[in-house]
Amino acid sequence: MNIRLNTKRQSNGSNNSPIGIFDSGVGGLSVLQRSRQLLPQENFIYVADSGYAPWGSKDHHFIEQRSKIITEHLLEQGAKLIVIACNTATASIIEKFRHQYGIPFIGVEPGIKPAISVSKNGNIGIMATQGTLASQRYNELKQRFSHTVNLYHTACPGLADQVESCQINTAKTMTLLENFVQPLLTKQVDSIVLGCTHYSFLIPLMQKLVGDSILLIDTSHAVAEQIARIIKQYSLQNNEGNGLSQFFTTGDIEKTRLVMSSLLGHKIENLNALK
Ligand code: DGL
Repeated sequence: MNIRLNTKRQSNGSNNSPIGIFDSGVGGLSVLQRSRQLLPQENFIYVADSGYAPWGSKDHHFIEQRSKIITEHLLEQGAKLIVIACNTATASIIEKFRHQYGIPFIGVEPGIKPAISVSKNGNIGIMATQGTLASQRYNELKQRFSHTVNLYHTACPGLADQVESCQINTAKTMTLLENFVQPLLTKQVDSIVLGCTHYSFLIPLMQKLVGDSILLIDTSHAVAEQIARIIKQYSLQNNEGNGLSQFFTTGDIEKTRLVMSSLLGHKIENLNALK
């Protein structure tokens, strides 16, 4: 989770303005889910760039262009704060966007710190996209901790796509997971950081694979807590809202509706096209 914020910057949003959340696709719904539980009166707008997912293998320019289009859409919708619910995009563009746009941004990053606080043997695995692991931002984060613990990394190409297409409990997903997790198990990791928001939806399957003795570190709850802190800091809490969520996708509406509904466990009605 990224918590640095320029406290001089002011949001133009008002208290009942929505909180914008975006990701390459449906992965950031894990952050939305936690945020709605923690902040039931806040209204949310979620944008899934499903027409252009995955982002994990794309270059910086592509991610910046896509994030810019989505951010400007969220600003047009009156977002008071924007959550980049994507490790890959946070690593690539959050600092630039914080300087460029006049509202607070919250990002997500692999939870190395929470893993260190629970790891007993100091062997920690990190699963993330190629983009996140190759980024300067992630390498700086890693360097801050690599002298105290052993960090073992696995890039997981194709894994986010399985969630994106809602192929969660399938043999193919299990095989991919086995291949990505096995090298970490040989290093005797006792905790594995889920460094991509899509992977949160694979927790039950992964836990089955690695057993209960290995802790899976997911930061979606910590991100929701950070949203709560920031809206309080900016006096932007919505005390009268009904907790409405609106959804946009750049992908096929009916396909995205099915995937989102299945991941969230209820039918998504308020889903619109973003061109
Ligand atoms: N959910 C994203 C992340 O947290 C990106 C997945 C992808 O599009 O490759 O990194």
